[in-house]
Formats: sequence, structure tokens, C-alpha cells
Amino acid sequence: MRVIAVVNQKGGCGKTTTAINLAGCLSADGARVLVVDLDPQAHATLGLGVDPDQLDANLYEILAEPNPRRALREICLEIDAGLQLAPSGVVLSALEQKLGAEPVDQRTNRLSRALEEVQDDFDYALIDCPPTVGLLTFNALRAATEAIVPLETSSFAIHGVQKLLETIALLGERVGHDLDVRVLPTLYDGRTRYGRETLAQIRETFGDLCFDSVIRHNVKLREAAARGRPIQRITRRANGTIDYAALAVEVALRGTELAPSPADSPQEDPAKPDIPYREVVLRFRDEGANEVRIAGDFNGWVPDKGVFSIVEAEGEARVWTKILQLAPGGYQYRYVVDGEWREDPDNPETTRSAVGGRNSVLQVR
Ligand SMILES: Nc1ncnc2c1ncn2[C@@H]1O[C@H](COP(=O)(O)OP(=O)(O)O)[C@@H](O)[C@H]1O
Ligand SMILES: [Mg+2]
Repeated sequence: MRVIAVVNQKGGCGKTTTAINLAGCLSADGARVLVVDLDPQAHATLGLGVDPDQLDANLYEILAEPNPRRALREICLEIDAGLQLAPSGVVLSALEQKLGAEPVDQRTNRLSRALEEVQDDFDYALIDCPPTVGLLTFNALRAATEAIVPLETSSFAIHGVQKLLETIALLGERVGHDLDVRVLPTLYDGRTRYGRETLAQIRETFGDLCFDSVIRHNVKLREAAARGRPIQRITRRANGTIDYAALAVEVALRGTELAPSPADSPQEDPAKPDIPYREVVLRFRDEGANEVRIAGDFNGWVPDKGVFSIVEAEGEARVWTKILQLAPGGYQYRYVVDGEWREDPDNPETTRSAVGGRNSVLQVR
């Protein structure tokens, strides 16, 4: 089973549309496909014609407990021949809170464990991620070996995407397998000069990381979602059907290129001798802050560069978990809290900074 996360922290770029319609086309070609709706807004669930409020079980049941009472298979719904759905519900938004106290490693491998159960039942699992980089997305990326990042060609923000790609690359290192990440231009309007220029810019920026397929703007896609069906099941002639069918062919071909090798094993190998990096997890709790980043000599003092962040609510406060990959040695760092540089309040070890003030000090063994 190929596990593909459809991911981008930006909303409205076509993640859900891609998950549903790629699944529709792949299953029409004879593949067995599971759509995993990991967004508490349940748009993929609705878009496949299922009312999340009428269900007595959804992915929350599977992810909330270390040993869930039900198996993933039991909550999956048959949508059509070869197409199943692991549904979402608004309760999924409570997951971060619920799992907050568990070690990062355990609360982020729930989905990957659940998908192992259905490994032989499907050819593809397509995970529709929420528009945030939190616990749910982290679970998706740990479970996935591939990621599709839809990019809206009508309002393209390169900055956000580069950050996402950095995050994905870092996480790939962490789980001991590379994520094959590819960018998919969506909502393309070739009639406007802006659209054409943006597509050219995306191709130039991402090169081989960009799919050849482009998803054009097509109102039939929105109508299909409203009718709760993949577009391919409604019309064969719409641009939306043609574009997602082309994407399905490209995705299927990619599967033959991605030669399986021992390095692709999703198993974590803590004793891997050739990577001397240690995972360092730091937590920062604050009631008023909006944005907390971390900068140190490990990332050239560029806030959050190469750092994986999880933001979670904890009562009134928010907690930022920062995951660093560091080789053994001594490091200095500070938090950047809404633009203000601060020492780590939980770390008594500090040293005078060359530029004034004090830096926190970290020893990695
Ligand atoms: N290629 C497209 N053409 C027209 N409308 C689209 C297209 N892709 C997505 N949409 C519409 O744009 C909105 C946002 O898309 P969606 O897939 O839900 O994005 P995301 O999941 O990233 O938030 C939805 O109303 C969807 O129907
Ligand atoms: Mg969505």
C-alpha cells in the first residue's frame, strides 16, 4: 500500500478536492483506495457523500487511544467499488488536547500504526490533511511515504511552501525514510497572464518536484463535491475529470519508479549508526504568545529553520513543541516570542551572549 499525504498548511489550495478526485480516478482504474479524512472539518467525508454527524465512529476512535477498541477496518465506509473512506468528525479537533501529555513519539505514530493493519487491503491510502501543521499533520507525515502538496496558482506564496518542504524533509530524516514530495499546481486559469506566469514560476522553483499534471479551475469540481461524488463518477468530459485522470496516471507511474529498497522501510531504526543526530525536544508554554520560534547556533540563528514545530492548546495556554535534530555537542539558543528574543524559561543553563543579553545552553550527548 502506498500512503500518500495531501498536505499544505494553507487552506483552500485544493487538498480535499485532490484527495477525493485522485481517489476517484485511481479506483476507477481498478486500484483499491482508502481516503483518510484527517481534517476535523470533515470536508472529504462530506465530499464523498457522508454526513459526519450521522456516524457513531470516526478516526478519533482509532487515534485517541493507544490500544483502540475498534480496528481501523471497522470504521471504514464503502463509498463505491474500490473506494473506501476513513471518516472524520469535529471531535478530531480535540485530539491534540487529549494526547498532549503523551511522549511525542507515541502520539505521532497513531495513524501509521492503524494503517499497518490495512496494509494488504488497499493499493493506496490518500490522507487529506487539515490546514495546519499540528499533531494530525504530523501523524499523516509519519504514516506517509509520499506527499502531494497542492499549490494554488491563483495566489501563490512561495515562502510558506518552502517552509513546508523543509519541515517535510526534516521529518523524513526523523522517521528514517524519505518522503517523496511533489508539488501539484491547482486552480489554474490559463486564460490569465497571472495564472500562466505563476505556473511558470512554480515550475522554475520546483523543477522535477513538480507534477507534469496541472489541475485547471473547473466549477464542476465544486459541484461534484456538493453532490458528494468524485467528479469522475459524474462526468467524463469535464476538465476536472481529465486533469485528475492525468494525475492518477502520473501517480501510478511514479509507483513503478519508486523502487522499494530497505531504506524505504517505515520502521524506525534508533540504532542507525551512520546518522549521529539526536532528536531534541523542547517545549515552550505561554498564555499570550501568537508565534514562538527557536533560533540558535544549530540553525544559524534563523528562527525555526530546520525545526519541526507542533502547536497545541493546553487550557488557556498554548504549548510549542520544537523538535531539533542535533549532532552531539554544545549549543546556544533563544526563543523568538512574537519577535522578541527570550531565554528558555525552563532551562537554568545560560551564558552571556556576544551581542548582549543571555542565551540558553544545551548539551547533546
Ligand atoms: N480545480 C478547481 N476548480 C474549481 N474549484 C476548485 C478546484 N479545486 C478546489 N476547488 C474548490 O475550492 C475550494 C477549496 O478547495 P479544497 O479542496 O476544499 O481545498 P483545501 O482542502 O486545501 O482547503 C472548494 O470549494 C473546492 O470545491
Ligand atoms: Mg480540505
